[in-house]
Amino acid sequence: MNGDDLRAIRERRGEDQQGFASWLNGQLNRRYDRSRVSRWESGAERIPQQVAAFLKPSAPTVPQFRPQRRVVLAIANQKGGVGKTTTAVNLAFALSTLGLSVLLIDGDPQGNATVHLGQDPGEIEVARRGLYSVLRGGQPFDSILVPVCGGAFTLAPSSIGLAAAETELVAEPDNSLVLKEMLAEVKGRYDVVVIDCPPNLGLLTINALAASDLVLIPVQTEVFAGLGVPLLLETIAKIRRRSNPSLNVFGILPTMFSSRLTQDQASLREIQAHYEGRTRVLAAVPRATLFAQASGAGRPAIEADPRSNSVRAYADLARELAAHLQDAPQDSKASHVA
Ligand SMILES: Nc1ncnc2c1ncn2[C@@H]1O[C@H](COP(=O)(O)OP(=O)(O)OP(=O)(O)O)[C@@H](O)[C@H]1O
Ligand SMILES: [Mg+2]
Repeated sequence: MNGDDLRAIRERRGEDQQGFASWLNGQLNRRYDRSRVSRWESGAERIPQQVAAFLKPSAPTVPQFRPQRRVVLAIANQKGGVGKTTTAVNLAFALSTLGLSVLLIDGDPQGNATVHLGQDPGEIEVARRGLYSVLRGGQPFDSILVPVCGGAFTLAPSSIGLAAAETELVAEPDNSLVLKEMLAEVKGRYDVVVIDCPPNLGLLTINALAASDLVLIPVQTEVFAGLGVPLLLETIAKIRRRSNPSLNVFGILPTMFSSRLTQDQASLREIQAHYEGRTRVLAAVPRATLFAQASGAGRPAIEADPRSNSVRAYADLARELAAHLQDAPQDSKASHVA
């Protein structure tokens, strides 16, 4: 890779040399500045191998979307096992293939998104390179960020130590705004920040919602699928009134849908009828073993098998979100719902 190649990549990202240096720093955990980028582009200095290797796989990812705004999207449902993490990981990857710069924050002490992306939460715990160190240790976000999926996007990982934040934050003033405050440092570098929430409505979820512009609610397509969603919507409404008036629901995502099961069909119709005219009900994600297999292999299903019908709903969801970023805010279909 020569200086012209590097400049072309930077220009495709629509960034100046400082912005490009900041993006690289976030991806590679380095401390480059504008003048280094300038020297690489002019040929005055050799491009470091790590930078060249990182930029090479992402070079074909020509941005198709130049978003007019950036968003923070929380993926939340206090019900466990509905597909929040699977959605967060696959959506983050799908957004990156559209040329968007993406940060995925693992906001769950279970560290499932971290494991799903091939990272070791035990090592992260020992090295103090998880979200806990940012929320409680005052460490900058930059110090924990890791590139994942060959540099397609960036992960802020978590480990079990994050569980302590839930109780420790209770004593903090304005304890719902800690993540929002810390995120301000890095948010401007990413088109989309995705936050994977834990399965409860505790302080970590409240922090995620207070830091977000949009919420996506995965709902398993099963009997009584929507149970618990009204409480989540009530919580979202309270956060909107008290600290974050710009928070909106992006939509409901039916997950683990088996089209052959009459019960799943009935549940899907029920979800669609209930939310019609109030918020988007997105295309259902089918039930498929591919998701658990890919997660076991430490990668998103949509990266492992991009042509599978099972992952199409995530590709569509990414396009719908990207299109939303190009709309003027008043055109948005995102809604208050509650
Ligand atoms: N569409 C799907 N088809 C089949 N299995 C799926 C699908 N989506 C997720 N799963 C599997 O279901 C389980 C729960 O999914 P996931 O971890 O994404 O849910 P979650 O809501 O994040 O759970 P938690 O509340 O514990 O954080 C995982 O084993 C995952 O591999
Ligand atoms: Mg999860």
